[in-house]
Amino acid sequence: MKAKELKEKYLKFFESRRHKVIPSASLIPSTEVEITGTQKVLFTTAGMHPLIPYLLGQEHVAGKRLSNVQKCFRTDDIDEIGDAWHLTFFEMLGNWSLGDPASPNGIGQGGYWKKEAIPWSMEFLTRELGLEKEKIYVSVFGGDPEIPGVGADEESVSIWKDVGIPEERILRLGKTDNWWGPVGETGPCGPDTEMFYDTGKPAHGSDCKPGDNCGKYAEIWNDVFMEFNKTADGKYEPLKQKNVDTGMGVERTTAILQGKDNVYDTELFSPIINEIKNLAKDWDDRSGRIIADHLRGSTFLISDGVTPSNVETGYILRRLIRRAIRYGKQLGINQKFASRIAEVTIDTDRDSYPELVQKKDIIKKELSLEEDRFETAIREGLKKSHRIFDLKVPISNEKYTKIMQAVGKREMFREMYRGEVESKDKDLSSEFGVKISQEEINKATISGKEAFDLYQTHGFPIEMIVELAQARNLLVDIEDFRKEVKNHQEVSRAGSEKKFAGGLADQSEITTKGHTATHLLHQALRTVLGEHVEQRGSNITPERIRFDFSHGEKLTDEEIKKVEELVNQKIKEDLPVKKEIMSPGEAKKAGAIGLFEEKYSDKVSVYSVGNFSKEICGGPHVEYTGQLGKFKIIKEEALGSGQRRIRAVLE
Ligand code: ALA
Repeated sequence: MKAKELKEKYLKFFESRRHKVIPSASLIPSTEVEITGTQKVLFTTAGMHPLIPYLLGQEHVAGKRLSNVQKCFRTDDIDEIGDAWHLTFFEMLGNWSLGDPASPNGIGQGGYWKKEAIPWSMEFLTRELGLEKEKIYVSVFGGDPEIPGVGADEESVSIWKDVGIPEERILRLGKTDNWWGPVGETGPCGPDTEMFYDTGKPAHGSDCKPGDNCGKYAEIWNDVFMEFNKTADGKYEPLKQKNVDTGMGVERTTAILQGKDNVYDTELFSPIINEIKNLAKDWDDRSGRIIADHLRGSTFLISDGVTPSNVETGYILRRLIRRAIRYGKQLGINQKFASRIAEVTIDTDRDSYPELVQKKDIIKKELSLEEDRFETAIREGLKKSHRIFDLKVPISNEKYTKIMQAVGKREMFREMYRGEVESKDKDLSSEFGVKISQEEINKATISGKEAFDLYQTHGFPIEMIVELAQARNLLVDIEDFRKEVKNHQEVSRAGSEKKFAGGLADQSEITTKGHTATHLLHQALRTVLGEHVEQRGSNITPERIRFDFSHGEKLTDEEIKKVEELVNQKIKEDLPVKKEIMSPGEAKKAGAIGLFEEKYSDKVSVYSVGNFSKEICGGPHVEYTGQLGKFKIIKEEALGSGQRRIRAVLE
């Protein structure tokens, strides 16, 4: 069975059980989710993620039973990419019940609970997908001291037995395995029951069991009974409503249905892998898979508006692209290739995701630009890295090789640092089977700060710094590097919060005019350059308007002129500026953009300028655009990669 058929069958199955099929949300969590959640999570990590407000009790326009295929992106498994199953970007099938599990036997439009969800899962797996009942294993929540007051889920056990899974194929596990959520630190979560399929591979030992990731038992589906809310003080309190949240990985399930032992051999990846093979001089599966996963993920991220930069989502995208390029070099691909792989990805996924086709040019351009930037960064950075590296004292070849053999390349950097922190006098010889002193380690180590400098100034990904270090028998203090990155992000976030608070230096008449002009500018940029343009910040003083936004390239003179003209035309039309109060959901539905104020309230104010612009904003604004005077762009400049800044005045 192909992925397409799997998705169609799934949605049809739940549609016939009165679920409404909803579209996939963006990979970048929406305004609504950010408002409801207490923290920002960079990417949509699961089908339930865009539904958080509704799992918490808000009414969903499509009703209480929903189903969809959701684009997801997870960074926590990034180091596992290259194995058979892990992916950064993947598609998740899901079905949901949003509260009200009272309707008998799932009949009617209300919600449902375990006695409907579990039999439906079983029916779909066996009847629709044709999987053998005897090969299905399940796990359920068996209780855990970390979640006091919530006992083992014997209700699910008994339902599984009713549908034909015997006791010996039911595992009761703790929180690590069978508790799902919340997405961030707080929010909806609950016990889950997971379904595994015996792939027929030999057991790796007597303790081989579902959930141990050895490859014999493949996890295919997960039903979460979301009835708890984790609070900021770490407590689990009952949610207002009992929800069902399920998730089935499309790529994995497709591979299992096709009897493949990895996702890359399915039609979702094989054209991409083949193209990489065409370009490569050498081949190893891991490198090829990393390239395929990372560039496929990058393609989807760019199509949802992310551009490479050194912060947040942009940083992850940059890391993916550069890592893919590095692995490309490892396979002997010496020409630029990222946008070619994107083209193949777009072709492979064009039916399911037409937005990829619409954004094809932007995707290819961003990838190509980032490849160029990386080349330049390497050239310049190599010079600088030599200066840093030359000051270090390499570990002798013999010792370095032994350490490498003893602990494996990647782990070494972490373990050594940990060893150093945990016990200053630790005799490393026992750990590495080689006598190496703390002093030798210190002298051979690129500090976190030095690594951060290379990364920050020259865009070197940490893996590349590690590789350069390895080539010279040196070490890198990765944990310290990560602390530097975190510190830096906190500082810049604090800075931007201050900067974006209101965005106005005062509320004089002239700054109010500037503020309305900013809305016109924002929309004009989106009209002229495309919908990927989003406000990143603004600062308005009586003297000038400053507006930061996402866009990959320098604006041409013609583009600047067009933007300027469009703003002036809207000023001339003397459009009315209107304020309306609505829920964030309504605002989004009405097509409002932006979210810089009133971030945590359940009502937002939306300002519309005629039919031209609609933005969530706290005001103040002028009443008619005719009051603004003439708008003029003074300067357009880069503000880090993927971001531009415009300075303008009202004359
Ligand atoms: N939210 C659950 C998952 O992602 C279904 O596995």
